[in-house]
Amino acid sequence: MEKMVRLDKFLADAGKGTRSEVKKEIKKGLVLVNGRAVKSPEEKISPGTDRVLLRGEPVLPEPEFVYYLLYKPAGYVSATEDRREKTVMELVPSSRKGLFPVGRLDKDTEGLLLITNDGMLAHELLSPAKHVEKTYFVRVRGEVSETDRIRLEQGVDIGEDRLTLPAKAEIIRNFREDGKDRAVQAGEDKSRENVQQEEMAEKYTELLLTICEGKFHQVKRMMEAVGKKVVYLKRISMGPLVLPGDLKKGECRRLTEKETESLRKAVRQQK
Ligand code: URA
Repeated sequence: MEKMVRLDKFLADAGKGTRSEVKKEIKKGLVLVNGRAVKSPEEKISPGTDRVLLRGEPVLPEPEFVYYLLYKPAGYVSATEDRREKTVMELVPSSRKGLFPVGRLDKDTEGLLLITNDGMLAHELLSPAKHVEKTYFVRVRGEVSETDRIRLEQGVDIGEDRLTLPAKAEIIRNFREDGKDRAVQAGEDKSRENVQQEEMAEKYTELLLTICEGKFHQVKRMMEAVGKKVVYLKRISMGPLVLPGDLKKGECRRLTEKETESLRKAVRQQK
């Protein structure tokens, strides 16, 4: 038999407001259940069979599993609770119980983080056996050479039993602290002063690193293994999910049906 739920819970779970907000709407008589105005928030309904209208608009029952894509900003920890730090859950516009972040991004890492209550899918996405690819935009201090790049791709020693699995590393640019990249500098008329300034300015490299494991601080440790310190890190994709260009830092939205299906397909296919 279908589980009955309180009307206020049904509306809050469907994203129509907090429990106290929806209670007010109910008491005002703005909620109809099967055509009848119900004014008591505690009245129980059958989500699958009862037709609920809020201000004339149908309210569809929440699916069992929900999926959110968060653009995590720095400064939040990837946990459901923390006594001292702000958690990513504070950025999710849902009061659903059982939601959790799929894997961890460090407090200072930004980018794509999946939040769900689907334990099975999360487990598969994180399973080392599934080899789901994660791509990071990485900025490091120093110049990443072609030799470093090849080492990152072939596997480096990060202090585990084995080298890291084969990865993809694509250098975007090498540049100096003053923001000029090397191609620009090479074409400049170089006075002695310019050359001295250039030599003193710190070098940086930006690259894309795609890995299919998820060891603790993996990207930072891989870059350390080639002698470079990460100064900025952002995850831009996870399997088929890509950080959307129109999502701002700190914003969160539900995955589309298509995105959810692509994730399921990715874990079915990856071996
Ligand atoms: N690798 C890291 O070092 N940190 C992250 O947050 C994610 C991957």
